[in-house]
Order: sequence, then C-alpha cells, then structure tokens
Amino acid sequence: MPIRALGRRHRKRIAQHLLSLPERDRYLRFGYAARDEQIQKYVDTLNFSRDEVLGIFNRKLQLIAVAHLAYEPTPQIKGRAAMAEFGVSVQSTARGRGYGRRLFERAALHARNRGIDTLFIHALSENGPMLAIARKAGAKVERDGSESEAWLRLPPDSVSSHVDEAIERHMAEADFQLKRHLRNFNAFIDGVAEVKTKLGKNSGKSAKQ
Ligand SMILES: CC(C)(COP(=O)(O)OP(=O)(O)OC[C@H]1O[C@@H](n2cnc3c(N)ncnc32)[C@H](O)[C@@H]1OP(=O)(O)O)[C@@H](O)C(=O)NCCC(=O)NCCS
Repeated sequence: MPIRALGRRHRKRIAQHLLSLPERDRYLRFGYAARDEQIQKYVDTLNFSRDEVLGIFNRKLQLIAVAHLAYEPTPQIKGRAAMAEFGVSVQSTARGRGYGRRLFERAALHARNRGIDTLFIHALSENGPMLAIARKAGAKVERDGSESEAWLRLPPDSVSSHVDEAIERHMAEADFQLKRHLRNFNAFIDGVAEVKTKLGKNSGKSAKQ
C-alpha cells in the first residue's frame, strides 16, 4: 500500500481515523487518553504548511493509518540539531503488516531531505511495537520509567534520497487515482446491475398483466 502525503482537504478523514481509535490506542498515540474534543482540536490545528502528514488508504479508500512528522517551529534553537517528532497510528485491523514501520521509514526519508538530522519519538515504555520499529531503524532508545524517548540520527540528504522520495510520491498518487477510478467503475457496474434488476422485475409484472 503506497504512502500518500495528506493535506488540508484530508482533515475530516484524519479526524475520522483518530476518533475511531479505542481508548488504549489514543493513550498510546498521544500519551494520554485523548477525548474526542482533544482529538478534534489536534486535527484542526495540524499545520500542513510546516509539518508532513502521511497516510495509507485501503482499497475502499478508507484512511487506515496516519503519521505526523512535526517540525519544530522555525527558527530552531541555535546550537541544537534540527529535529522533527514522529507520531503514528494504524487502525487495529491493519496492524502487523509493516505499515507502522513503512510510515516511519518514509517520515525519516522526508525529514532527511529537509535537512533534519534527528528524528524524535516519544512513546510510553509499554509501547512494544513502536519501540520495536524505532530500535529496528537504529534509534537510540532511552527509558525513563513509564516513558521512553527514541532518537534516530539521519544521514545527510543525497540525490538518491530525493529521487526515492519523488518516486514514492508519484507511485502513491498513481495508486490512489487507480483506486478512485476502480471505486467509481464498481459503483457504475452496481448501478447498471440495479437498473437491470428493476427492468427485469417490471417486465415480469407487465408479462403477467
Ligand atoms: C505502533 C503502531 C503504529 C504499529 O503499527 P503496525 O503497522 O502494527 O506496525 P508494524 O507492523 O510496522 O511493526 C510492528 C513491529 O512491532 C513488533 N511488535 C508487535 N507487538 C509487539 C510487542 N508487544 N512488543 C514488541 N514488539 C512488538 C512486530 O513484530 C513488528 O516488528 P517486526 O517488523 O520486526 O516484525 C500501532 O500498533 C498503533 O497504531 N498503535 C496505537 C498508537 C501508537 O501506539 N502509536 C505510537 C506512538 S507515537
């Protein structure tokens, strides 16, 4: 499933995805059991001009995973490495398929191409899957009781890292458009079938009259 960059027009779908998360997942994602109003506020204040929001759509074009790469407001603190923070959620029925890891890798690539040298993840220490993703990518994980912080140093950007990102972006757009056409085509076929059924019923009735 290709990863797509999300924009302002996706706010509603991002909210739907996050609001569908059960209490425990909200706790793991935000660090507290976020209420609906808090989630809505988070979505309403997402800064698409500054940050990168990534998503994965299934075949029915439902948003099943969302990642947020938050850049610190510019200018960054002098003398400190340029940093971005990563947060992610995958719909429970779509877990264990590598989507979380792929979103992380894509966010790291995006950050790297924007001159960021450290990716930061704040997670609860009990969050095995998130910490597994970070560790596997080579992040340094520091545990402080119930909370953990992971730091991933990113290599400098290169021509190939920019090409990789451009290709992924292009593939994701093509995939989304294909899914959209397929959905419209299926709706058209369903419509034709419905009309045929109705016509069949009507001709049956008139044959009896
Ligand atoms: C964290 C989350 C995004 C992972 O999504 P996912 O698509 O299932 O993740 P992936 O399939 O890419 O990988 C999960 C990894 O965790 C591992 N894992 C699963 N359960 C685990 C556990 N209890 N302890 C340790 N590792 C675990 C898997 O084996 C896999 O590692 P692998 O690729 O080496 O096999 C998802 O669980 C989620 O949305 N959780 C709720 C929100 C959240 O916790 N967000 C992160 C905080 S920012």
